[in-house]
Amino acid sequence: MKRPAQHTLFDFLTDTEITSEKLASLAVALGARSVAGWSDAEQRLTRLLVPVEDWLVEESIQKIKAGEDPLGEYFCRLRSAEERRDQGATYTPFRIADWMIERAAERYGPPARVVDPGVGSARFLGRAGKIFPKALLVGVEIDPLPALLARASLATLGLGNRSQIVLADYRDAPLGRVGGRTLYIGNPPYLRHHQITPAWKRWLTEESRKLGLDASQLAGLHVHFFLSTAQRASPGDVGVFITAAEWLDVNYGKLVRDLFLGPLGGQRIDVIEPTAEPFPDAASTAAITFFETGAQPEQVILRRVATIDGLGDVSKERVVRRERLEAESRWTHLTRAGQKGPKGYVELGELCRVHRGQVTGANKFWIAGEHSRDLPANVFYPTVTKARELIRAGKVLEDAAVLRRVIDLPSDLDVFDADERKAVNRFLTNAKKLQVHEGYVAANRRAWWSVRLREPAPILATYMARRPPAFVRNRADARHINIAHGLYPREDFGESVLSNLVDYLSTSVRVAEGRTYAGGLTKFEPREMERLMVPSPELLREGVKA
Ligand SMILES: C[S@@+](CC[C@H](N)C(=O)[O-])C[C@H]1O[C@@H](n2cnc3c(N)ncnc32)[C@H](O)[C@@H]1O
Repeated sequence: MKRPAQHTLFDFLTDTEITSEKLASLAVALGARSVAGWSDAEQRLTRLLVPVEDWLVEESIQKIKAGEDPLGEYFCRLRSAEERRDQGATYTPFRIADWMIERAAERYGPPARVVDPGVGSARFLGRAGKIFPKALLVGVEIDPLPALLARASLATLGLGNRSQIVLADYRDAPLGRVGGRTLYIGNPPYLRHHQITPAWKRWLTEESRKLGLDASQLAGLHVHFFLSTAQRASPGDVGVFITAAEWLDVNYGKLVRDLFLGPLGGQRIDVIEPTAEPFPDAASTAAITFFETGAQPEQVILRRVATIDGLGDVSKERVVRRERLEAESRWTHLTRAGQKGPKGYVELGELCRVHRGQVTGANKFWIAGEHSRDLPANVFYPTVTKARELIRAGKVLEDAAVLRRVIDLPSDLDVFDADERKAVNRFLTNAKKLQVHEGYVAANRRAWWSVRLREPAPILATYMARRPPAFVRNRADARHINIAHGLYPREDFGESVLSNLVDYLSTSVRVAEGRTYAGGLTKFEPREMERLMVPSPELLREGVKA
């Protein structure tokens, strides 16, 4: 049949009634049957072929060879966006797929095999086949119609003889092993947990447990795909997945975060803001995750871009130490661009967690004085209660005796002997008379009488003044209340690193790095302080000074 003069593929797609028979027939005409892994379901779908116009076949071939995906587009017209959403079928814009494949090629070199765990119309495999001319191309797909389209696209691109389509659920798809590295790449389907059967939810729990990890019943299908990939990947296998970014922060995403830091060997996450429309049918933030099974990188690269062009901009990259990711249950804030420091510098938050000191709720009462004279000695804790105590101390606080003491009673008062308990009771009766227990802070404590000071912080800092913060090495094991921040090293760096860090911070942090309030007061919130650039532990060990 000749192509009608006025017809284009687009007219065909819009004017013609699109049926799955027609699409399946087009796929067969394009050579779908020549690709390995032909299944019964695909056989059934292609039993009754309908005629396909020659021009339609030719134009499809031209477009596929020109790097487009006419079959995928056709499929998207056949099934509405809602229907596809229910099947987790959102096809990846080529610019994103290309970027992922190119970065994978750059980072990991050519793989022996490329696996797309939900292959759709084979956008990833088609491109990967070009960039990796020797790799075996394997697409897994649960839906026979896209499976046929994937075959047709791959056959048209001349990749049929090294391609295989497996019609199966990825979680139990038999993929076997190859000699050499496998690259897992794709866009795992996004289905909410309501659409996941109890049996697969149980699978998630049991299989996660085998890896020593906890899984949530609220996890979406993409979480299952991460787990299945971690299970089947051999050491040295690599992967790049684009998914919704929620897993970075939500509770059910913990399994992916744990897999990323553990068996998957996560190396890098690029977050794409919804404005860039990373998923054409859904306004959600995307995360592109790079991993290499068995890798335990000390540092992970995080980045956030607002446009697809922005994927080319390396200046937004942030290097974050893995301990920091391990310590935090939400990661999105870490993807925001950090400040650039000289080579080898990292954010203070990489080295230390910064915590504001405890709020007592009534310093007059909880700081020791005449009124607390009779209390047992072990409830008094030397504590930094005024910023000027730190400023006066210089770089090292050696002597706790100069500090006032905060009364920190345990929540369980039965630990005291009878005499001590009497003294404590008198003290608390007095507190009640003064309505200390009714104050907002006290009323909201687990036990209103128990201030619960934080552990001594190895470094203390002032954070609100008309001058840069004072950083002080706390050798006196003093506690601190909320007029100071405590810097708690994320690991045992040793004394020279800590004192060099204090030296560096004392001389380098400028007022301009904090937030300035009316009247010239500058304030550093804990998270802002964590973003100060400091030399890495290695440089500090060598004794780098400001
Ligand atoms: C988000 S689409 C991605 C398609 C293609 N890789 C792309 O990026 O353009 C996910 C694909 O996974 C398929 N899928 C859904 N559940 C699946 C499962 N349990 N196992 C394998 N494939 C599945 C869907 O039919 C859909 O084609």
